[in-house]
Amino acid sequence: MNIRFIGSENGLLTFKKLLNGKANVSNGADAKDALIFEISSLEVLYKIPKRNFGVPVFFYLTTPNKTVISNIKEYRISGILFPPLNADAIMSKLVRSQTQDAAVNERDYETLRIKIIAKAENIPTLPAIAQELIKLTRNTSQAAIGQVTSKIKMDQGISSKVIKLVNSPFYGVRKEIASIDRATMLLGFSSVKNIALAISLDQYYQKPFNMYKTTGQAIWQHAYNVALISSEIGKHLQQDCDALYMAGLMHDIGKVVMVDFLVKEVEYVQDEREQLGCSHAEIAAVIMNKWSVAPAIVEAVKTHHDAGSELYGRIVATANNIDHDKENTDEYIYQLNSEHPIQDIDTLKNSIQTILSDNTDDS
Ligand SMILES: [Fe+2]
Ligand SMILES: [Fe+2]
Repeated sequence: MNIRFIGSENGLLTFKKLLNGKANVSNGADAKDALIFEISSLEVLYKIPKRNFGVPVFFYLTTPNKTVISNIKEYRISGILFPPLNADAIMSKLVRSQTQDAAVNERDYETLRIKIIAKAENIPTLPAIAQELIKLTRNTSQAAIGQVTSKIKMDQGISSKVIKLVNSPFYGVRKEIASIDRATMLLGFSSVKNIALAISLDQYYQKPFNMYKTTGQAIWQHAYNVALISSEIGKHLQQDCDALYMAGLMHDIGKVVMVDFLVKEVEYVQDEREQLGCSHAEIAAVIMNKWSVAPAIVEAVKTHHDAGSELYGRIVATANNIDHDKENTDEYIYQLNSEHPIQDIDTLKNSIQTILSDNTDDS
């Protein structure tokens, strides 16, 4: 077996020593049976393209950095090699990757991608009310706001769900709110608008999501939490909270289309890429462009699983991590804070706790 090693001279020597002559390891481009990348830092990892290399790829980890480990799942690789290692363990991994059914090749991926994108482009249009809500900007006239409010009021299904959600602890109302007008008065139009938008999207989640090992209701609830958390973070970073809310709300909408193509259960984005050659984040962008969502919001969603994304993408990624891994909320906040200083971090942490402790069970 001929293995190409990409990394430091020292790494190559150590790896050769580890293999003890059981395979040919070199840094020459002609070695074609497997590729080994030495991952010694986050910077090194970020430089590796997230594509299919056409041969089994392994990451040889020489750093205990936790961020590196959590970002590895984004890559299309056959396995990770990390200490303690011995020649037999390495060889059994390498040989297994060779005998496995050849991964779907690039051409199959391309055909699949085209099919998935076509389906994403044919996703049912947004309900009229959602389209109007999306069009509203911060300097919308009172008259336009009034019109949308009366449409929300007229829609029994939406208004009763809005009223239910405005009474959740996150909004901190003391006396129960019983009408849309009262909700608008107490919480402001922006909150009512955002809640109505969340509700108008729930129809896309009314199908089985077994391949994601979850339910449509759970994905919707997760999207709603990520929307609230993203917007809350945005407030503390003085960013456009409504835009971040919308990005959070739609960040996983791609799963609505992807789920129709998955044939095996998936756990990580990496699993989607392995099966279908694309991710729910890319497909979400197709859907959102179709819905004429603002480009900055689409970009944030498209990059919510990428390392090194721009601020909005980072905020949505942080909110997503927090909702999936609630116990480590502080860690995610401090990480973001080290890149983008957050004002009043304790208030932010408290608001997030309220959102997380406040899962509605049906809507
Ligand atoms: Fe996601
Ligand atoms: Fe998510």
